[in-house]
Amino acid sequence: MRIIVMNPKGGVGKTTIATNLVSYYLGKGCKTALIDLDPQGSSTYWVRKRPIFKAPLQLIEPHNLKAGMTKVFQLTPERGTEVTVTDTPAGMDLVGNISQIRNNDVILIPVTPSVFDIQVITRFIADLLIKVKPNRSHTQVAVIANRCRENTQSFKKLRLFLEALNIPFIGIIKDAQFYVGASEEGLGFFDLGKVQKSLIKESYRWQAITQWLDVIKDRSYSVREVSPCEKEMV
Ligand SMILES: Nc1ncnc2c1ncn2[C@@H]1O[C@H](COP(=O)(O)OP(=O)(O)OP(=O)(O)O)[C@@H](O)[C@H]1O
Ligand SMILES: [Mg+2]
Repeated sequence: MRIIVMNPKGGVGKTTIATNLVSYYLGKGCKTALIDLDPQGSSTYWVRKRPIFKAPLQLIEPHNLKAGMTKVFQLTPERGTEVTVTDTPAGMDLVGNISQIRNNDVILIPVTPSVFDIQVITRFIADLLIKVKPNRSHTQVAVIANRCRENTQSFKKLRLFLEALNIPFIGIIKDAQFYVGASEEGLGFFDLGKVQKSLIKESYRWQAITQWLDVIKDRSYSVREVSPCEKEMV
């Protein structure tokens, strides 16, 4: 199962969603790799901060290749990897990264509810569908609302737009200080053993998101297998 988290805007929660999903899959015991395509390296920082007693994960850093090891070795998920989560930079060039983007089971787009962000995202989704042309029977495009207030007009318009394009809106993450503190310590929501009372509602929100992803995971190709979509591209 391969997930890529994308949004052309900065600061909308790409790294937050990517790292929290990694904490989910590690918590489930899945062998997981985090691919940090962002030269800023926020996900890399998160991995380095992660407590050593936590389940290990593979970090793939295309922007920080080490001497003395082949590029292919450093960029390839380890044998047996079940899940890769790719964090991307703001403003990532779509056309220049077509194969990297298509090579995923899920393109996850975090959206914040401001009217400006929603304008950007509607243009981005149109661009993504036209320029990258993901084969939607292999690569699902889905949206998550981050730091969300659901009752705004712009939010309602976004939902209508997504419905028209048949793009699932898979969940909502609230604005919670927990995310800021946890990311500093290399932790995610699923590292909290027993969810604190104040975060119980948030755990239900995550459940909706992870259940949707689990359905995709059940029918996805293993990370090192070539999907029919890639075969078509060869
Ligand atoms: N749901 C949330 N509640 C509270 N703070 C959040 C939430 N989501 C993200 N943040 C905070 O907002 C800031 C930006 O989030 P994040 O780094 O995940 O965005 P990004 O899209 O990856 O940014 P960039 O484009 O710069 O890589 C961070 O300080 C993060 O801790
Ligand atoms: Mg980021």
